[in-house]
Amino acid sequence: MIEKLKSLKEKIDGIELTSAELTEEFRIKYLSRKGLLNDLFEEFKVIANDQKKEVGKTMNVVKQAIQQKWEEASQKFNKQDEKPTQQVDLTLPGEPAKLGSRHPLLLVEKQIVDVFSRLGFSLSYGPEIEDDWHNFSGLNFPENHPARDMQDTFFIDKEMALRTHTSSVQVRLMENQQPPLRAIMPGRVYRNEAISARAHCFFHQVEGIYINKDVSFADLKQTLYHFVTEFFGKDFNIRFRPSYFPFTEPSAEMDISCTICKGKGCNVCKHSGWVEILGCGMIDPNVLDANGIDAREYSGFAFGMGIERITMLKYNVKDLRLFSTNDLRFLQQFEGE
Ligand code: DAH
Repeated sequence: MIEKLKSLKEKIDGIELTSAELTEEFRIKYLSRKGLLNDLFEEFKVIANDQKKEVGKTMNVVKQAIQQKWEEASQKFNKQDEKPTQQVDLTLPGEPAKLGSRHPLLLVEKQIVDVFSRLGFSLSYGPEIEDDWHNFSGLNFPENHPARDMQDTFFIDKEMALRTHTSSVQVRLMENQQPPLRAIMPGRVYRNEAISARAHCFFHQVEGIYINKDVSFADLKQTLYHFVTEFFGKDFNIRFRPSYFPFTEPSAEMDISCTICKGKGCNVCKHSGWVEILGCGMIDPNVLDANGIDAREYSGFAFGMGIERITMLKYNVKDLRLFSTNDLRFLQQFEGE
């Protein structure tokens, strides 16, 4: 057997693999499962034990020679094969980059901010974890007053809570700046409510204030009327209903004629033809004074609207939960907006 192996080795040394095809033929003939090398190992199994050591050595030499020859050749030819594909054709059009889309709530927040910034409102933000003063007391919610129950608060400890409305940012602005003050304040707010199609434990608001000399309710109405026409178009009516908030006097809620049924009556407007979109009013003089602004000299209005509600009206979304479940089929509809 040794003789056979030696002459095989000579034969292999003499072979020249000059192409990819020859290399592949070589592999099949010697290295494949039914190849010569395997046959030799089969033969090796049955030779006498005292010959095994020497034959085994020679077998290994032959095996290495075969493998080395094949590896060298296949490396050489594979590289050559790759060459044409590695050349980049710069004249071909590129792969289009997939663009994401804005989240509908951010989209609408931006649209709201745009309308008010054209009216000269600046942009402010405040923290989501708030103390009692900024969320309640500074806004004329007396301690133990039932108005605090209007907002189911997530408390963190005795003093701190997740803010229940963006009105807290009003207080932060007033304590840091003197009028004229004209700002809007978007942000996320939290309330301890069961999640359903119409309510969630977190949602988004945009707060607005204007404080100056001689600001009147007429200014408030006109500003909000302008917002609705800019945002929804001219086909919609608005109405103000008297309401109650501790930090405004008088207070009102503003409805717009239902954008879905155009005021005829549908499920969304509960067949009234109107949908409430915000709370507003003249800032209570107590609030101005408590935050270092002289109420004898200045007056102001404030408003707060829910971004989810407005987004639902604008884009005909019927379930609030869609905004937070990250369903791509829903979100991709806002591509390009
Ligand atoms: N903070 C109120 C809420 O979350 C909304 C609101 C009402 C804001 C009247 C105001 C306002 O600024 O004047 O229900």
